[in-house]
Amino acid sequence: MKAVVIRRGDAEPTVMDVPAPTPDDGEVLVRTLRVGIDGTDHEVIEGSHGGYPPGSAYQILGHEAVGVVEQANGTALDEGQLVVPTVRRPPPETRTNDYFERGEPDMAPDGAYVERGIVGAHGYMSDYFTSPVDHLVPVPDSYAAYGFLVEPMSNTEKAVEHAFAARSAFDWHPKTAFVLGNGSLGLLTLAMLQQDHGRYEPFERTYCLGRRDRPDPTVDIIERLGATYVDSRETPVGEMAETHESVDFVYEATGHAKHPFDLLDALAPNGVGALLGIPDDWTFEVDGGRLHREMVLRNKALVGSVNSNRRHFEAAKESLAALPDWFCESLVTGVYPPEAVTDALADDTRSIKTVVEFGTP
Ligand code: NAP
Ligand code: BGC
Ligand code: ZN
Repeated sequence: MKAVVIRRGDAEPTVMDVPAPTPDDGEVLVRTLRVGIDGTDHEVIEGSHGGYPPGSAYQILGHEAVGVVEQANGTALDEGQLVVPTVRRPPPETRTNDYFERGEPDMAPDGAYVERGIVGAHGYMSDYFTSPVDHLVPVPDSYAAYGFLVEPMSNTEKAVEHAFAARSAFDWHPKTAFVLGNGSLGLLTLAMLQQDHGRYEPFERTYCLGRRDRPDPTVDIIERLGATYVDSRETPVGEMAETHESVDFVYEATGHAKHPFDLLDALAPNGVGALLGIPDDWTFEVDGGRLHREMVLRNKALVGSVNSNRRHFEAAKESLAALPDWFCESLVTGVYPPEAVTDALADDTRSIKTVVEFGTP
């Protein structure tokens, strides 16, 4: 079968013919429809994040997928059912551990998980993939085009849940949110923070940070969502309180390593920042004493968050259905065949989000 892979030592992915997988007991064979590209895929290709499956000369890319069950293999899933796979799996040598048993693989430490398409395991950018059924989330047929967005949205469901949990000991009613980053994760999050789904009140005022000149499709989306575009070249994050207002919640989705420190100045008293961006090493000076004091005297919190579990996928499934149609159509700026993955990656950097399409339902 056809697979998009990064070979050890290569700087760019390539299409390879690889053996089609055979499902083990409890696993199904899934025919891949679409696989989204995000910032993490670029980091995996560059070699700054993740790693190859042990002993393999290549890694199949891709972790945001939607597919259709091709062989149910005696499991409870029906053939023809649309599914979205989760990302984390137990390390193959142990098969399971307490984190997976508890349904909290997203809280597992290094070494207690692999991530498909990212850390030590093959991903979903191939004609077929196999997965245990309990790592597949069934979705309705209407999710064939945009179901791959459930995975990134689940990362936000988790981060927001953890950030709000950090404020759960008192009566907290956040009204303002600032999303750092106008990439696909930032824009999806901006749209989600405005939804009225009952899990928390929609934010009254939202801001989104970028560094692009107008006209730009991300700025158009930000403004169509009713949010305010903040250009980091004019308004550094640390000056947000002076130029606009201080905010109750900040969501970091750029990976710019100074942001966790700068955002402490943008937060209102009792506010919380969620960190999702994954930076490279970078040594710089900060006034640690002042920031430490700021957190203590104004009850501010920072929460790091990675990955998501099945509960977050279920919440994201609902959030995706509640997004306006124009939003997904504007966010996904290109659909490419596997052979054009290099173009898809270049387009993803220039525009917003691209997807590799292996088939249709
Ligand atoms: P992305 O498409 O690369 O988006 C990052 C965006 O941030 C880009 O649009 C970039 O602008 C903007 N940006 C970078 N530095 C900036 C700065 N100093 N000021 C203003 N804007 C800046 O990546 P993504 O897919 O949205 O993901 C965002 C980050 O989250 C990545 O690091 C990714 O690895 C990470 N991530 C983490 C999780 C998790 O579970 N923790 C989940 C998904 C993704 P330009 O396009 O103009 O350069
Ligand atoms: C993926 C997560 C993963 C994280 C760290 C993100 O892009 O969506 O599932 O845990 O990267 O590898
Ligand atoms: Zn991702």
